[in-house]
Amino acid sequence: MTNVVVIGSQWGDEGKGKIVDWLSERADIVVRFQGGHNAGHTLVIDGTSYKLSLLPSGVVRPGKMAVIGNGVVVDPHALIAEIDKLEKQGVKITPENLRIADNATLILSLHRELDGIREDAASTSNSGVKIGTTRRGIGPAYEDKVGRRAIRVMDLADVETLPAKVERLLTHHNALRRGLGEAEISHDSIMQELTSVAERVLPFRDTIWLLLDKQRRRGARILFEGAQGSLLDIDHGTYPFVTSSNTVAGQAAAGSGMGPGALGYVLGITKAYTTRVGEGPFPTELDDEIGQFLGERGREFGTVTGRKRRCGWFDAALVRQSVATNGITGIALTKLDVLDGLDELKICVGYKLDGQDIDHLPASQGQQARVEPVYITLEGWKESTVGARSWADLPAQAIKYVRQVEALIGAPVALLSTSPERDDTILVTDPFED
Ligand code: GDP
Ligand code: IMO
Ligand code: MG
Repeated sequence: MTNVVVIGSQWGDEGKGKIVDWLSERADIVVRFQGGHNAGHTLVIDGTSYKLSLLPSGVVRPGKMAVIGNGVVVDPHALIAEIDKLEKQGVKITPENLRIADNATLILSLHRELDGIREDAASTSNSGVKIGTTRRGIGPAYEDKVGRRAIRVMDLADVETLPAKVERLLTHHNALRRGLGEAEISHDSIMQELTSVAERVLPFRDTIWLLLDKQRRRGARILFEGAQGSLLDIDHGTYPFVTSSNTVAGQAAAGSGMGPGALGYVLGITKAYTTRVGEGPFPTELDDEIGQFLGERGREFGTVTGRKRRCGWFDAALVRQSVATNGITGIALTKLDVLDGLDELKICVGYKLDGQDIDHLPASQGQQARVEPVYITLEGWKESTVGARSWADLPAQAIKYVRQVEALIGAPVALLSTSPERDDTILVTDPFED
């Protein structure tokens, strides 16, 4: 297939960045279509580590076009800082290799501040639900987008109408802030914030639906890079402990302006166990030495906030749901090496809810908190799989584990990842050639 959509099939941090970087060798264009700099993707290339939050992971490859689609919320300060940081690492970013949708929504400092105020208030009182957000202003910015009062990238160029747009935005935010007992924000300070970033941001602006349409027609290969994971999707995730965008594959179309018929192969990035950052239900969470082992061996600390990730067994019921909601064609199974050395491995195949067997996670928050996982147990392996680059390098028990995962989730493994390094990857099916 010509185009490939990469999404996370769990709660994020599945290793999407590494796989997108690996696949981008085969692609011409890499497109982000949702989320913002709440994403944290680590790429390791010849021992050098690159940490990306807002920019598509393809940006580190020379000659590839990186695109930020309209579905993304763009913090201009974070954008500039990330460009500058990557340039220090020798990655050149110019309008030649980065384009940003002119209809993408901006995250302003007031959004970031509001995100923090709400999280703090929820921690110290019963006035809200603490989500454990990344405090990057993602939720508040999407609220303004849906409320039709957001400032968008193109508005930075329209000095005539910008003051009225800021006025409308502040009418809403200052009312909100008065209610929260916070100081009001002046029109001047927002105008100043916007004018200070305009010069750096505007050269990248483009009409992305048009660019993608032209490129698609001339046969370019387009790789869509999802952020977060399907269980963090605003509709399909563990609401309200979710992010504020649709993270499922269908959003690749709406968040970029390319029609869904052209999307092609959907690759679900799937960690060989499960992790979650922030609050919310996690049926297979391990609060014991095995959970600690996975966290240490897998270096499960957030790229964005440095928070410790919660760890647990692989949950096949959750990933089976992701296979359905994303239309996953195949998965990239990552971090298999982290399981090396465990005596036995458990896989959750369904749940018990109030004494009844169920095969999927119910949507209700109360029921999600009550489900108990039903496990099967597999024998582990003692050999190292770190850096394995072919099936022949894997012990028989590891292959059995992979086959069991495939059978339970109902999707085949297309790629297998055995270390953070770009090339420590086993290719089974090339998503671009399928
Ligand atoms: P993303 O948010 O989905 O891109 O994932 P992150 O980059 O936040 O987290 C995945 C982490 O695991 C990163 O530190 C990667 O370098 C690392 N990683 C990716 N694939 C593998 C793998 O197969 N084995 C090991 N040990 N680490 C991996
Ligand atoms: P990548 O792309 C893991 C989580 C936060 C919080 C919830 C809402 O690296 O996989 P938000 O700031 O989005 O409003 O926070 O979503 N979250 C992530 N968890 N990986 C991510 O991105 C995440 N982005 C947001 O921890 O629970
Ligand atoms: Mg991450």
